[in-house]
Formats: sequence, structure tokens, C-alpha cells
Amino acid sequence: MRDQWNSRIGFILASIGSAVGLGNIWRFPTVTAENGGGAFLFVYLIVVLIIGVPVMIIELTLGRKSQTNVVSTFDTLTNHPFWSKIGFIGLISALVVLSFYAVIAGWVILYFFFALVGRLSLTSANDLLVFFDTMIAHPYLSTLGLIIFLTFTLLIVMTGVSKGIERFSKFSMPSVIILLIILFARTITLEGSFEGLIWFLSPRLEDVTLSVALNAIGQVFFSFSLGMGILLTYGSYLAKDTNIPSNSLIISISDVLVAILAGAIVIPALFAFNLELETGPGLIFVTIPAVFNTLPLGSLWTSVFFLLLAFAALTSSVSFLEVLTAYTVDKFKQPRKNATILATFSVFILGLPSALAAGPLDFFTVRGMNFLDLVDTFSSTVLLPLSGLLIVLFTGWVWGNKTAIKEIQQGAPAFNEENLIASLWSILVKYLIPLAILYIFITGFLAG
Ligand code: PFF
Repeated sequence: MRDQWNSRIGFILASIGSAVGLGNIWRFPTVTAENGGGAFLFVYLIVVLIIGVPVMIIELTLGRKSQTNVVSTFDTLTNHPFWSKIGFIGLISALVVLSFYAVIAGWVILYFFFALVGRLSLTSANDLLVFFDTMIAHPYLSTLGLIIFLTFTLLIVMTGVSKGIERFSKFSMPSVIILLIILFARTITLEGSFEGLIWFLSPRLEDVTLSVALNAIGQVFFSFSLGMGILLTYGSYLAKDTNIPSNSLIISISDVLVAILAGAIVIPALFAFNLELETGPGLIFVTIPAVFNTLPLGSLWTSVFFLLLAFAALTSSVSFLEVLTAYTVDKFKQPRKNATILATFSVFILGLPSALAAGPLDFFTVRGMNFLDLVDTFSSTVLLPLSGLLIVLFTGWVWGNKTAIKEIQQGAPAFNEENLIASLWSILVKYLIPLAILYIFITGFLAG
């Protein structure tokens, strides 16, 4: 018998913990700024509804049905030589994404320390940008951040699923949200910020392009932790009477709200401080301290913020590592401890070039992107949508929609023909989602 979640709330919190992280607070505002503000938000919300929520339901359902890790799930459900192997893409994505995620999270930890010792009390946004650029170019600092972050992740995962992850999620999430609300209240009273809020919230349809749509899909997958077998693995620890659709809704809504809250802070701040829309990965590392520095005890606020953000990143990274560990335990029959260490070490090796990307490896660029940006863009616009596409096609056409619906109905009796979403389900899963991903994937990619 596999380990099971101790409580419903434990599962929800851990899943929200996995979903809410750097993807919402660091990545969402950055991608939104680069992709037209409200135009991006508009497409993002549509993608959430027609792709994000259904794919989340599918992943949890597949996991609960097969009761195993992401790779074996497909093996258990089919013997087809191709379809039984698609879980590998999820596994590889988890490895690749965690490798750069841990680098960013490492910067967050370093920022906690720098704020604590008062190094971020600079008043001009430009000075803060220079500080950030100098820090990430420093090879030892970036690597140190990576090591510290991975060590924490390792320690948490080693203590086991229900104990480690549930306990951790319970206190970190609410605290992050409280701090974000305070930040929002401050930002919105800064001069010039209101214009930014309008730019963020108004859906200018004329600015929607295929590349905006592709980025929106990538962001939804990234933010919802989809396509990497994470929710699949979490689903495998679920009891049969859990209501998967309603839980998926709760997780999705929470995730979207945090992203919008972060956007409503960072984008108006970007306007207030006259930063460029293309500031890139440093955006929150500049705007957040800049906003806090307008308050008394700014450095203290900044350090608490980055500490909490590091916690939010940890509840996400433990979920990545959980996928890799669950696979290693089941596949190589390794004790959990060895499996976790092995997985962490692989992530570290893969993460090194990202840690060095803005320093010694800055000569390496493709289309203007350094190694880290490249891995980030490649995973969210190629690996994750591809993995999602295969998972959806598998469910609609190979495993079979009828079987899927039967499994979803366990714990969710209302998921039947009288329910609008359930009656649209087959069309969504068999046609609409795969075609939408495929179309945007190919055309958006060709359009560069
Ligand atoms: N969803 C997390 C975030 O938005 O920060 C990141 C993430 C965690 C992505 C786990 C993927 C994943 F498997």
C-alpha cells in the first residue's frame, strides 16, 4: 500500500504549495510585462479555463488510477510501445525545470541575506538593477544559492511525503499571501503605478499574437505544475473518495489569484519606477525592494518577503523532487534516502550551467538568451506543452474517455451528463485541447 495523504486539507495545501511558487511571483509578472500586459492576462485566463483545469483533472485522475509514478503510470494503463513511454517526457521536464528553478530560488535566498544586512536599501531602481546583475554574474554566489536551496529541498523530501510536505505547506502559504497584500496596498499608492495597473488589466485584443498565446500556454503549464507528472504523482497518493474536479478548481483558482496579485504589484511598480518592460528575470528583484524601500524599515520587509518567497519556492521544489524520487524508488528499488540524494545530485549538475549563465558562461547565447533563459523558454514553450499534449491525447484516445470519466466520477458523482463541464468533457479532451495546443505550438513556434 502506498503512502496516502493524511487529510484532505493536507493534499490541497501541498498541491497549492506545488502550484504557487516562483512561477506566480517571479515568472508571471515578467512574462506578462514582456507579452503585452492585459493582452497576455486575457489569453492566460482563457487557457486556464479550457486547458489548465482539465489537464489538472486528468493528471490527478491518471495518478489515482495507476497508483504509481509518472513513468510507470502509462506502462500500467497500456502496453502500446509508444504510449506506454510518454511519462518519460514528464520526468525529463521535471529534471530540467527544477535545474533552473533552483538557481532562481537560490537568488531569492541570497536576497534574503543581502536584505538582512542592509545591502538592498538602495533608493534608485537602477542601482538595484545593477546590484542584481552583479550578483547573478558572480559564479560562486549563484552556485552557493543553488546548493543551499537544493540542500533544503533534499532534507524535506527525505522525511517522506505526508509528513514532510504537509507540515511544510501549512504555514508558508498564508504568510506569503499576507505579505503580498501589504505590498499591493503600498504599490498602488505610488505615483504612476495606476497607469501600470490599467495596462495590466485591460484586455487589448489587438495585441494578442500567436507568440503571446504560446507563452500563455507555457505559463499555465508551468504555474499549475502540469506536464511534469507532479500532480500525477500527488494523485497517486489520493484516496478513491476524493473529489478530483472540485479540488482541481480550488487549486487552480488559488494559483491564478496569487499570480494576479503578484502581477498587480510588480507591473504597477515597473511603471512607477520607469523600468523597461523587457527587464527580464531581474524584474521582481528590483521592484520588490524598491517598493519596500519607500516604507520605514524597508530592508526588514524585503528580507521577510524573500524568506517567505524562498518557502513558497521550496514547497514547489519538493514536489519536483518528489516526482524524481518516486520514480527512482519504484524503478531502481532504492531506499528513499538514496533515491532522493541521487535525484538531487542530478539536478545540481544540470543546474550548474544555469547558475553560471550570467557569469563565466555569458558568451553562450541563442537568440539573445543565455543558458538559463534558454532552458526556461525551452521547457515552458516546448517540453511542457508537448508533455501535456501527449497526456491529453493518451486520455482521450488511448486510455479512453469513458474509462477516464468513470474514474473521475468516483468521489465526484456530480461529474455526469447533467453537469455542463462533464458533458463538454469528451469534446474538450479528444479535440479541443489537443488541437489548440498543437495549433499554437506549431504556428507560435514558427513565428518565433
Ligand atoms: N508551479 C510552480 C510555480 O509556479 O512556481 C513551479 C513548478 C513546480 C513547476 C513544480 C513545475 C513543477 F513540477
